[in-house]
Amino acid sequence: MLFGVRSRIGLAAAAMVMTFFVPLANAQAQYGPQRNRAAHGMVASADSVASQVGVDIMKQGGNAVDSAVAVGLALAVTYPAAGNLGGGGFMLVRLADGRSTVFDFRETAPAAANRNMYLDKAGNVVGDMSLVGYRAVGVPGTVAGLAMAQKKYGRLTWKQVVAPARRLAEQGFLLTNTLANSLRTSKSLAHFPDSRLIFQRNGKFYREGELFRQPELALTLKRLEEKGPREFYEGQTAALITADMKRNGGLITRDDLKKYKPVERVPLKGTYRGYDILTMPPPSSGGAVLIEMLNMLEKYDVRAMGDSSDYYHLMIEVMRRAFADRAEFMGDPDFVKVPVKGLTSKAYATKIAATIDLAHATRSGTLRHGDPAPYESSETTHYSVVDAQGNAVSTTYTLNYSFGSGVTAKGTGILLNDEMDDFTSKPGVPNGFGLVQGEANAIVPHKRPLSSMTPTILTKDGKLFMVIGTPGGPTIITTVLQVIVHVIDQDRSLYDAIAAPRLHQQWLPDTVDAESFALAKEVRLALEARGHLFSRASILGGNSYGSAQGILIDLKTGIRIGASDPRQSGAAIGY
Ligand code: DON
Repeated sequence: MLFGVRSRIGLAAAAMVMTFFVPLANAQAQYGPQRNRAAHGMVASADSVASQVGVDIMKQGGNAVDSAVAVGLALAVTYPAAGNLGGGGFMLVRLADGRSTVFDFRETAPAAANRNMYLDKAGNVVGDMSLVGYRAVGVPGTVAGLAMAQKKYGRLTWKQVVAPARRLAEQGFLLTNTLANSLRTSKSLAHFPDSRLIFQRNGKFYREGELFRQPELALTLKRLEEKGPREFYEGQTAALITADMKRNGGLITRDDLKKYKPVERVPLKGTYRGYDILTMPPPSSGGAVLIEMLNMLEKYDVRAMGDSSDYYHLMIEVMRRAFADRAEFMGDPDFVKVPVKGLTSKAYATKIAATIDLAHATRSGTLRHGDPAPYESSETTHYSVVDAQGNAVSTTYTLNYSFGSGVTAKGTGILLNDEMDDFTSKPGVPNGFGLVQGEANAIVPHKRPLSSMTPTILTKDGKLFMVIGTPGGPTIITTVLQVIVHVIDQDRSLYDAIAAPRLHQQWLPDTVDAESFALAKEVRLALEARGHLFSRASILGGNSYGSAQGILIDLKTGIRIGASDPRQSGAAIGY
């Protein structure tokens, strides 16, 4: 039963005819839908309809993994900027009995890709070839990855978890203001006739409150529902995607799709002030950079620093150092050796933290990556799910930029990613997120591009404590860092920890991105006096970033407290 669709329709109707509902509406504006408390299960995602799908699946007897898979598929319908079938991502699972695992369904480079594919004859990076259009697309992993997780740890059938998404595509759902706006303003969608027709109605743009149906996507989901997930890689869907690739100069072939394999990996582990951290190993840089930063912070009395300029200075310097290591050492562990153990060791953090000058900003240009070898013995969306038994799932998956490459594979309704831009197009040349990357992340056929996605789970004395993650390119890692520090060192509620303004530094460029109102004027002046340079425009082109979706478990009562980032219109829904 799609309560979410119903309630969105119901709310719209109620708003029109029943004025006595106004006090209720006010209460909603005040308390939700960004946060919630519940005794059994909780889903926090960037879209309320998808969150409700996840809750309904748990009420039908599904566990957190079933729920997370259904949410992932539903977001592909209701949150097309990042939810996807045509992209990839990571799902971190911690079962109630303490076992944990991650599913890596990151896209891979097609067999015909090569390290110079985005360079012209003179060796310069060509415009936005790695970001827009058919050449930007990596081999999608989402369907295979979600199916692998569901088969291994889910309780329901594949059909049961696909059905809600298929119904949403078939019957449609009411467009929020946010989604209607993003469809209207997307330049990449406007480039491609199929995308322009499906998502922009050829210029007669969808408006808030309209029913948005996606019949081709519904047929694709129906094929997946009936024939199983391999249909995407070997069936009619694969045939449609590759035919469209062929017509338009894309590289992905039938063989690329057939060969795609998700990988189950061991989560990366760290600790911070008595909390245990489970997070994403390479091919994400997220987990290793997060743990390296937390290890450095642990050397300092962060709690005593409060909201002072000392605190922000330390945060910036820690970020700068860990991101310098990211650029040098990280790539797909199936292709390059990533010194993860060294990078995440406490002893290495002690050595790197010792280079921090508490009085002055270090110029990034003078800073080189460390040497972890001696310590070595590898628009996006996030959603978090906890079920009644205490199983937890933290998933971040993506098309990379909003609506990915802008391409909808003809006849499928599937938007395809532009994940190839996460590779190093050319060492030393910044990618779309301004990241200057190295050799370890060069393009090689079948290799996975380095990611920053950081699905994370915290436990305390073996008990589940927090499930967290966010979109935001490289700011993903620093956002997860700041939410954790806000909760553990500053005793903020999860909602306040997520809502609090954030800042970001990524080694290069040598500037600090601060959200509007992140810093009191005197703090900013004190930081400038220490030599910090503030960027005028965020690397993400806006004033705020991220859309963190978290769940905190009250360690005494077991109550699940969900929080959805107020920067976007998601919802944490529990039962
Ligand atoms: O994997 C990565 O790091 C990027 N493709 C994530 C992109 C992203 O978060 C965009 N959302 N704002």
